[in-house]
Amino acid sequence: MTARATAKACANIALVKYWGKRDAQLNLPAAGSLSLTLAALVTETTVAFDPALAADELVLDGSAARTKETARITTFLDLVRGQAGISARARVTSTNHFPTASGLASSASGFAALAVAAATAAGLAATPRALSILARRGSGSAARSLYGGFVRMHAGHAPDGSDAFAEPITSRLLDKVRMVIAIVGGGAPKSHGSRDAMDHTAATSPLYQAWLDLVPHDLAAAEGALAAGDLPALGAVAEGNALAMHASAMAARPAVIYWQPTTLALLAEVRALRDRGIGAWATMDAGPHVKVLTSIEHADAVAAALRPLASEVIVSAPGGPTTVTAG
Ligand code: DP6
Repeated sequence: MTARATAKACANIALVKYWGKRDAQLNLPAAGSLSLTLAALVTETTVAFDPALAADELVLDGSAARTKETARITTFLDLVRGQAGISARARVTSTNHFPTASGLASSASGFAALAVAAATAAGLAATPRALSILARRGSGSAARSLYGGFVRMHAGHAPDGSDAFAEPITSRLLDKVRMVIAIVGGGAPKSHGSRDAMDHTAATSPLYQAWLDLVPHDLAAAEGALAAGDLPALGAVAEGNALAMHASAMAARPAVIYWQPTTLALLAEVRALRDRGIGAWATMDAGPHVKVLTSIEHADAVAAALRPLASEVIVSAPGGPTTVTAG
């Protein structure tokens, strides 16, 4: 007998970044983070536990996944099997409904959808907090994708990670914002995976401690801006925080540099938009793409300004929480 469930999760983009861990084994972040969940970037994942299977199987976007990816899924499913007291292997089918480009935040939506589908299929009666903690074990940013809108991830202090989970933050800005995503380089695979690059930054960058010292201040400022409904204040924190994260990575030895010439051209265009009175603020993750926080009223103007520079531009509204769609 198989037990199956399907879940759908949206990716999220951090406005205050997660960059570095305090525990690799439990995947505990060294600091908190804050993000916006995005409706345009969705992963749908089905998990079917089947006692007849000899090993877990992963089909990603229609093709059998590589051994390394399947091994990461097995490590994650072992946690679910342990909590649920089952031993059956699973067939996992995951599809990224991302507009053509890859290289976006698919591990966030991927592990959020996997956590919810696997926990449901395994019959785990998990609270949202427990699901966020479970998703974090797969990928730190995935803990935030359990929730829609603005989300705060707590670094926590407990050695077992029981207080390192995400929670939604209400703000009237949620009805006013858009994220304009400018894809650079056609969405080619990223040069350094975020996991290895953040570990390398923590181990070798002379700016890493300064980064860690900065994050609590940026989190407080971002939460203050959300509470006040102040988009320019939120945007300024987000752009400054992303630049600081990249500065810490660039100072690692050897350097981790995600930017391409087009990334800098897009950043200059975002500054030019601001000079023309259009509220737009950039953030970048472990890749060359530029994501721009703006208001609904300015989203079209921002997209039009970035389109000539980027290989593709996506305008996204805030997304909702991870949901079970079948099972
Ligand atoms: C730059 O969540 O992919 O996107 O926990 O090792 O899987 P792991 O890392 P991951 O890192 C995300 C890094 C980031 C910033 C962010 O999303 O906060």
